[in-house]
Amino acid sequence: MQDDTERLARLARAWSEAAAGYEDYFVPRFAPWVELAVDMVTEHPVPEGPVLVPCCGTFPELDLLAARLPGREIVGIDLSEGMVALARERTAAVPFADAVVGDAQTLDARWSGRCAAVVSVFGLQQIPDPVAAVGSWVDALRPGGRLSIVFWPDATESDGPFALIAALLRERFPAREEDSAWEDDLAAAVTGRGATLERDELPAFPMVHSSAAAYFDASAASGPLRALALSQDEDFMGDLRAEYLSRAPEGEWRHDPHARLITARR
Ligand SMILES: C[S@@+](CC[C@H](N)C(=O)[O-])C[C@H]1O[C@@H](n2cnc3c(N)ncnc32)[C@H](O)[C@@H]1O
Repeated sequence: MQDDTERLARLARAWSEAAAGYEDYFVPRFAPWVELAVDMVTEHPVPEGPVLVPCCGTFPELDLLAARLPGREIVGIDLSEGMVALARERTAAVPFADAVVGDAQTLDARWSGRCAAVVSVFGLQQIPDPVAAVGSWVDALRPGGRLSIVFWPDATESDGPFALIAALLRERFPAREEDSAWEDDLAAAVTGRGATLERDELPAFPMVHSSAAAYFDASAASGPLRALALSQDEDFMGDLRAEYLSRAPEGEWRHDPHARLITARR
């Protein structure tokens, strides 16, 4: 429990430090997955009720949702105050939208059975108990409501900067098998709460970095490596960067990572 509290506090601080750089570097590169997650909700008729966006970060989901579901209450929830501050720059321009600071693992009871949709992109893999989170998100849906989740699974590619960093981190922190075991339990978490699983896929899109160093530095300053950088000393991060660069290709680096998409209807 104490471990989870410390981990959440470090994560919140990391994402607050990262927020502005994340918006510049990662939001454009992650946009195809955000659009896919929103499409999965808005391509169907959705019932009345609010749309929740757990782990909204700077809230890139908002403009797409608001354009397709005008007049709808759309609420983003994020652990990080810095992320929510930037999300509020987006919500300020959208009537009935809001962004709030909170832990999205267990949604507030006021949402239970009321929501038209829950859409979450690239947050689930950071939540201490992702299976519990999915259960809570399904419980928030009203009958006919839609769940659309995109997250980074443990394995995202066989070749590319994500794979190289994952391999280097496994060498430094030998992965325990159960670290990613939760990924096998997500479908049952959906169906066990009375929802129907509609899609469980591994959508890939191309991504480009001007160099291997550009990706590493963006990740350590404003992306997924920020929390690690906060928990380790400068020598650790310097060694990691040096070994990564020694194994990475020269010049522009293109890759095709896959995320995992899970959609369901209650
Ligand atoms: C990679 S960002 C994704 C943001 C946005 N959905 C996007 O696609 O660009 C992940 C976000 O999840 C948030 N997050 C991580 N754990 C969380 C939790 N337990 N509750 C709420 N937000 C969380 C982080 O603060 C961060 O802003």
